[in-house]
Amino acid sequence: MKLEQITTANAFNYRYLLKRIFPYIKPVLFRIVIAFLLTIPLGLLDGVTAFVLKPYIDVVINGDTLTYGNVVLTRDILGFWIPPGIVIFAGVQGLLRYSNTYLTDWISYTIANHVKIDLFKKLIFLDSKFYDENSSGLVISRFLNDPDLAARQLINSIKSLITCFTSALGLIFVLIYNSWELAIVGVVVLCCAFLPMTLLRKKIKQVSNKTTVVGGNITTAFNETYKGNKVISGYNLQDKTFAKMKRLIRETFDLQMSLTKRIGWLSPIMYIIASIGIAFVMLVGNKLIAMDRLTTGSFASFITSLLLLYKPIKSLGHDLTNIQSIFVAINRVFDLFDFETRIKDEGKKEMSKSLNAVEFKNVKFSYNEEKEILHNISFKIEKGKTLAIVGNSGGGKSTIVNLIPRFYDIDSGEILIDNENIKNFTLKSLRDNISEVFQGNFLFTGSIKDNILVGKENATDEEINKVLIASHLDEFVAGLENGVDTLIGENGCSLSGGQMQRLAIARAMVKDSPIVILDEATSALDNKSEKVVQKALDNLMKDKTVFVIAHRLSTIFNADKIIVVEDGHIVEEGTHEELVGIENGRYRALYDMQFKNQELENV
Ligand SMILES: Nc1ncnc2c1ncn2[C@@H]1O[C@H](COP(=O)(O)OP(=O)(O)OP(=O)(O)O)[C@@H](O)[C@H]1O
Ligand SMILES: [Mg+2]
Repeated sequence: MKLEQITTANAFNYRYLLKRIFPYIKPVLFRIVIAFLLTIPLGLLDGVTAFVLKPYIDVVINGDTLTYGNVVLTRDILGFWIPPGIVIFAGVQGLLRYSNTYLTDWISYTIANHVKIDLFKKLIFLDSKFYDENSSGLVISRFLNDPDLAARQLINSIKSLITCFTSALGLIFVLIYNSWELAIVGVVVLCCAFLPMTLLRKKIKQVSNKTTVVGGNITTAFNETYKGNKVISGYNLQDKTFAKMKRLIRETFDLQMSLTKRIGWLSPIMYIIASIGIAFVMLVGNKLIAMDRLTTGSFASFITSLLLLYKPIKSLGHDLTNIQSIFVAINRVFDLFDFETRIKDEGKKEMSKSLNAVEFKNVKFSYNEEKEILHNISFKIEKGKTLAIVGNSGGGKSTIVNLIPRFYDIDSGEILIDNENIKNFTLKSLRDNISEVFQGNFLFTGSIKDNILVGKENATDEEINKVLIASHLDEFVAGLENGVDTLIGENGCSLSGGQMQRLAIARAMVKDSPIVILDEATSALDNKSEKVVQKALDNLMKDKTVFVIAHRLSTIFNADKIIVVEDGHIVEEGTHEELVGIENGRYRALYDMQFKNQELENV
């Protein structure tokens, strides 16, 4: 299943998604409650401002006297207290706001971090097929952006919902306190203004998903620009690459604008409806003042509340739609969580170092449904022997050896190590006992030493030196100012192709496993280096069960058995002498074609 194909069926199943995100919320629940409690006074404070306007205008400006029970408020008292009151009030509000922001940021980063950590743990154990099928850009955007977006915005929106709700409540109280008749008019009109909001839910969901797909494609295209910069320059692909990126960026633009087109008119419409409401309220208010049923202070306080009410109600609508797109993001994250590795680590046996005869029995394998790559492959290689695999490019050689450490599982048949199905071993012990030098090596960013330690975590300096000599890297390393501690760039760019290959060989050597796989391990070396490295490889291969894929002669000559693989079939099997002896045989043809030329070259 590819990420792009996953439907967002669960995106609006809030209960399901909340249940899934709850384990991340639970550890910080107490702080969330405190943060949310802090937002209640923040919301109510808006109402206080509007509320104070009435006594201020009626008493301080108009000179009336207000009595609440025994308390008599005169112009002098209020005139003295209201100005410093405003400052103190702002101070309290600021303090509350800061504590609240600090707390909510802490909570949302914590949640996002935990989600990312768990997600990465999941991703790193996924099978090779997942990485074949899903582009890096899409996975990166789901890994990096979505947890942040989801956690931050979810907390902020809920916080904002609470503030807006309490703020709206406070303001509505002030409205009713001042004049209940006007309050009904005002609230009804405002509510009408926010109806269109609810109609747009589906559109937002669609656009939001499309935007991530395009965003992912942009990241992938950008990665390619970076990694493939030499190919792009060498093949003059700049214009094409540029056109592709331009198209993707345009596509994002179109998506963004289509969203704006659909929701951009909301805000102006809401303002217009709200202003109609306010105009209406003013008309009615003027009448009430003329009839002496409303003081000017009450009216000013009322209008202020009504104007202030616009903001929380608008945010309420905004937060509700926002929460919908947040759930789309949460859904995308959990989609990724739901990927199960197809390589099941269900074996209980520990593979020991002494086990190493490998047998393929009627193995069939395909990377995807479209095409079977290996058809009925059967062979056996005894403990301590070397098997060479030759054949046409794309014939399936690398595929065969990649099945032994279970990067992929086979469709049918069996792969046995000392008569035990490899699925019965724990994945860790199986992979611990296989050293592989891959075709197209990958080195980690870090020092030369770091890369060797990948093979054996606790290798001593002596062991490291030994493999450096064996892989013919010693002279090169000795010439470096920092020796084995020299850093190699992203993908080991400061090393030559051959040096990278030798470092990969050193990494495999230090691992010292009973089964060794060499997939074109010496293809990038010149003849001289190859001879030296070959000697080292002979050492590495001693008493080991070895799979070797090579176009060069020497390793293949000495192999105990050679299989010729063409288009997923074993077409010939035997020793070099046997196979060369077959008139019109495939091996003979390959031999004549390339090996013989090479032999001549070497003379
Ligand atoms: N990750 C993959 N996903 C899908 N198809 C793949 C994948 N890797 C290889 N293939 C296909 O499987 C077939 C066998 O590939 P494989 O890499 O095993 O060939 P090979 O014999 O090692 O070739 P070469 O000598 O060029 O390295 C090819 O047709 C290739 O297109
Ligand atoms: Mg290959």
